[in-house]
Amino acid sequence: MQKLLIKGKKELSGTISISGSKNATLPILAASILATKVKLNNIPMVKDIFTMLELLKFIGIKVKVQKSNKIIELKNTGTINTLAPYKLVKTMRAGVLVLGPLLTKYKKAKVSLPGGCAIGTRPVDLHLFALKKLGANIKIKDGYIIAEAQKGLNGANIKFSSISVGATENAILAACGAKGRTVLNNCAVEPEILDLISYLKKLNFKIKVSDRKITIIGNKFVSKKINHKVIFDRIEAGTYLVAGALIGEKIIIKQINTKFLKYEVRVLKKAGVKIYKTKNSITIFKSKNLKNLNISTKPFPGFPTDLQAQLMVLMTQIKGISKIKENIFENRFMHVPELKRMGAKIKIKNKTAYISGPTNLTGAEVMATDLRASVCLVLAGLIANNRTIINRIYHLDRGYENLENKLKKCKAQIYRI
Ligand code: EPZ
Repeated sequence: MQKLLIKGKKELSGTISISGSKNATLPILAASILATKVKLNNIPMVKDIFTMLELLKFIGIKVKVQKSNKIIELKNTGTINTLAPYKLVKTMRAGVLVLGPLLTKYKKAKVSLPGGCAIGTRPVDLHLFALKKLGANIKIKDGYIIAEAQKGLNGANIKFSSISVGATENAILAACGAKGRTVLNNCAVEPEILDLISYLKKLNFKIKVSDRKITIIGNKFVSKKINHKVIFDRIEAGTYLVAGALIGEKIIIKQINTKFLKYEVRVLKKAGVKIYKTKNSITIFKSKNLKNLNISTKPFPGFPTDLQAQLMVLMTQIKGISKIKENIFENRFMHVPELKRMGAKIKIKNKTAYISGPTNLTGAEVMATDLRASVCLVLAGLIANNRTIINRIYHLDRGYENLENKLKKCKAQIYRI
């Protein structure tokens, strides 16, 4: 298995171009089941995208990938297999997002229950709740979700009991093919969902967002060819912002839209990080004597859970006690034992991590456990004394495009071995 070797304490300087968003691309790929001919640009060529493409090919979508141009072309020729098998859904839970489109367009779907993962059980009860409200018959059998709606789906008023990105996406996709109007309340409104909506509007679906309420007017499926450029990956951008705050002589992050990074920039500025932003770029410098922080992860526009592990590394360098409360997932502190092996002083009590600093981290051999935990170990390795070796970096390859090359271009001493 491949590892990453990092020689720490090397100041970074240079420019980092941010890739397209994995978490916008995945629902948009699932939504292509509702289309006929689609050309997607700015696609991050990462493992999760190829896993989703495997699933779409299994379903019967024709797929063409231009890796170097970051383009994917999809064609729905109409011969569709409404099955999403366990072997293709177990490694990537976003596979469950084909459920809504298959059901609403082909009136049935058999989709493997997505497995849990390191950060939590990851149930799909909210997804199924919404589909049932739209008139689907759903049963669970042998680890599969078996859904059908012989007479098609009907618009409904739905209120989610808690905010879920995936359930909101599945409900929007199902409502597109439902008869009449659907009103979804207490929705997630992450930028990735807004990007999915802008894509669906190109397919002539009428969708309106106001606060956490999303209204969808069902429509027939169009056959016109559509183009879409996926938004930038705000979590990748946030990750490199932390790298800049930790050890950036001067780092310029570009190909972003800072309106989707407001909270993250505010947090870093509050800590005292030197940071300048324009509409489409941020310049950041490593900063001393930072002020400690007290953060809680929340659904957008709050501080994202996907940046919790990365911010924790910055907190290890801040004098005093900083706190970070993880409200979204029940088990998202798997990176803490690994950071402690590198010398971090972290205590966990009632879903809150208390980080005392500043601590000099020392390089060690560590193990990645999930996508964001693995990148937090990379950040720790960049500032640690001597060498850090990170195992199981396949977690990293699921969601970070060209990570070591982007950092190497900024003078990091990081090697895949
Ligand atoms: C999406 O996962 C992202 N994945 C996650 O990013 C991200 O961490 C998460 O949203 C929260 O922002 C993609 O977009 C592909 P949720 P999702 O449904 O949709 C509970 C990454 O690193 N819940 O918003 O699965 C759930 O257990 C990944 O890129 C239910 O209880 O997240 C969790 O505690 C990791 N029932 C909370 O809601 C349900 O039916 C939020 O989950 C669904 C979710």
